[in-house]
Amino acid sequence: MAKDGDQGDWKEYIWNPRTREFMGRTASSWGLIFLFYLLFYIFLAGMFTLTMYVMLQTLDDHKPTWQDRLTTPGMVIRPKADESFEIVYNIQKTESWDMYAQALDNFLSPYNNSIQTQKNDECTPDRYFVQDDSGDVKNNPKRSCQFNRTILEDCSGVGDRYYGYQDGQPCIIIKLNRVIGMLPGKDGQAPYVTCGAKKEDSDKIGEMLYFPPNGTFNLMYYPYYGKKAQVNYSQPLVAVKFLNITVNQDVNIECKINANNIPIGVERDKFAGRVSFRLRINTVN
Ligand SMILES: *[C@@H]1O[C@H](CO)[C@@H](O)[C@H](O)[C@H]1NC(C)=O
Ligand SMILES: *[C@@H]1O[C@H](CO)[C@@H](O)[C@H](O)[C@H]1NC(C)=O
Ligand SMILES: *[C@@H]1O[C@H](CO)[C@@H](O)[C@H](O)[C@H]1NC(C)=O
Ligand SMILES: *[C@@H]1O[C@H](CO)[C@@H](O)[C@H](O)[C@H]1NC(C)=O
Ligand SMILES: *[C@@H]1O[C@H](CO)[C@@H](O)[C@H](O)[C@H]1NC(C)=O
Repeated sequence: MAKDGDQGDWKEYIWNPRTREFMGRTASSWGLIFLFYLLFYIFLAGMFTLTMYVMLQTLDDHKPTWQDRLTTPGMVIRPKADESFEIVYNIQKTESWDMYAQALDNFLSPYNNSIQTQKNDECTPDRYFVQDDSGDVKNNPKRSCQFNRTILEDCSGVGDRYYGYQDGQPCIIIKLNRVIGMLPGKDGQAPYVTCGAKKEDSDKIGEMLYFPPNGTFNLMYYPYYGKKAQVNYSQPLVAVKFLNITVNQDVNIECKINANNIPIGVERDKFAGRVSFRLRINTVN
């Protein structure tokens, strides 16, 4: 009976009592195989750990090893209602602008004078606050300069807690995204923000007021050394107050940074150094 014989062969292959072999190998042969693989994997794990360790030693916690050389920072505006860049409200409907005032309150509260005084230094204005490391000696943690909320005057929310929204003269606040190591102005010239209407809306935008004066980002807030090195860093802000914007119409506005040491936003990155948004103030006459 061939069938029985096949079954016998198969059983014998699993366990052969005669030669005391399991799956064709003796216990010591199996033992050696296991030992070999065990040592092999321990060796691999060791190699991996050693390589990781050596690589991590070369990283600096305080600054990125690689950073894109194109450093035109993006700009953002506050209040940010949602992802759409529009601020639309009705003067007579408190609930339509109250959220903007609240968003600005939240955004500005870390800039309260008391907090800034506690966390940051009074720096010398109009020059870079350089705190470089000397060779291998790290100059950490690095200090940061005070940006008092009251610098924003009429747009600080201190005197006018609704930021002008209630009388059709709203404030928006602009910040420049952080770029580590950026020195935005040459020859002591601070970068400044200007806002204007898109062509078709140029007669609707009206007068604007900038805070601080001329819409400048003071040089003392640069260079920025990164979140880990400069823990208390407060980004400088510029506020724009629209004094006489045409109501009941869309006004498309673009604000941009003017600086003599920031590369102009190249074509492929339209958002570099500028921000656009729509402002519409409705009112019932
Ligand atoms: C900042 O000041 C405002 C009043 O000017 C106050 O309502 C707010 O609670 C303060 N925020 C913090 C975080 O201290
Ligand atoms: C910030 O405000 C505090 C308290 O009002 C003041 O002592 C400090 O000098 C101000 N700092 C700057 C840089 O203006
Ligand atoms: C950061 O702020 C805290 C207070 O909130 C202060 O004790 C600390 O010295 C500051 N650190 C630096 C590096 O400025
Ligand atoms: C604002 O700019 C004008 C001219 O560009 C200049 O004369 C004035 O001193 C500047 N004001 C401030 C506070 O920087
Ligand atoms: C406000 O703008 C209107 C045109 O939109 C103009 O007629 C008026 O003179 C401006 N008022 C002031 C105070 O500039």
